[in-house]
Amino acid sequence: MRGLAKAFGGVRAVDAVDLDVGPGEMVGLIGPNGAGKTTLFDLVAGALPADAGSVRLRGEDVTGKPAHDLAQRGLARTFQIARALARMTVLENVCLAAPGQHGERVLPAMLRTWTGQEREVEARARETLEFLGLQEHADAYAGSLSGGQRKLLELGRAMMLKPRLMLLDEPLAGVNPVLAQRILERIAAIRALQGCAFLVIEHDVESVLRTCDRVAVMAHGKKIADAAPDDIRVDRSVLEAYLGAA
Ligand SMILES: Nc1ncnc2c1ncn2[C@@H]1O[C@H](COP(=O)(O)OP(=O)(O)OP(=O)(O)O)[C@@H](O)[C@H]1O
Ligand SMILES: [Mg+2]
Repeated sequence: MRGLAKAFGGVRAVDAVDLDVGPGEMVGLIGPNGAGKTTLFDLVAGALPADAGSVRLRGEDVTGKPAHDLAQRGLARTFQIARALARMTVLENVCLAAPGQHGERVLPAMLRTWTGQEREVEARARETLEFLGLQEHADAYAGSLSGGQRKLLELGRAMMLKPRLMLLDEPLAGVNPVLAQRILERIAAIRALQGCAFLVIEHDVESVLRTCDRVAVMAHGKKIADAAPDDIRVDRSVLEAYLGAA
């Protein structure tokens, strides 16, 4: 990301942000509420048009490309508020996230005989659910899952894209410590298995500092620090940003 900027009225939500995520790298993105973290994701993931700046993905300029195009190029994203389709089963939700699946078309197809490709998608979806420990809930409505389980389902939907870069918006929010630890382990496993890079927004700063290779810090739309976890721990501007916000 180079010089990314977005204002809402007078609020500079994202203010000239430069940020790099290397292949297979795990980068944390922290900062007080309203710092602009989610808006930055929206700009990168094609959910919002940027006022200025550019995004390059694997060497190609993808600024302003729509989300489905970015997905094909290996970018997956999860949302701060989980977006599973409550009236569909967990398995259906994961199947629909696979590339080339379109809700209305695939659903009747699932009730009929499956084509070879659909069978392959289902097999991968079941594998993914097993990997996340959600296999027992495959046939339950997504709406019946707990908050933490929905976070895992989001991760599963993102995994179906076999991405090169995952943007995770608060994957541990509202999740109990045991499940949070499991999610972190799953993320590490996805990284080891698929060589996927991660950019993770998270308010559990201790988990971020423990897990990430590098941590970027935002405050008032600006990136105020970008360094190894040990350097972030002792960075005065980071401390001040949090204390100021408090
Ligand atoms: N669609 C929008 N319209 C108007 N203002 C917005 C919009 N989205 C975000 N903002 C404003 O932009 C700023 C950054 O919001 P953003 O959601 O990016 O923060 P955040 O760092 O993700 O915060 P949190 O940690 O609470 O999720 C805030 O001041 C917010 O009110
Ligand atoms: Mg946010």
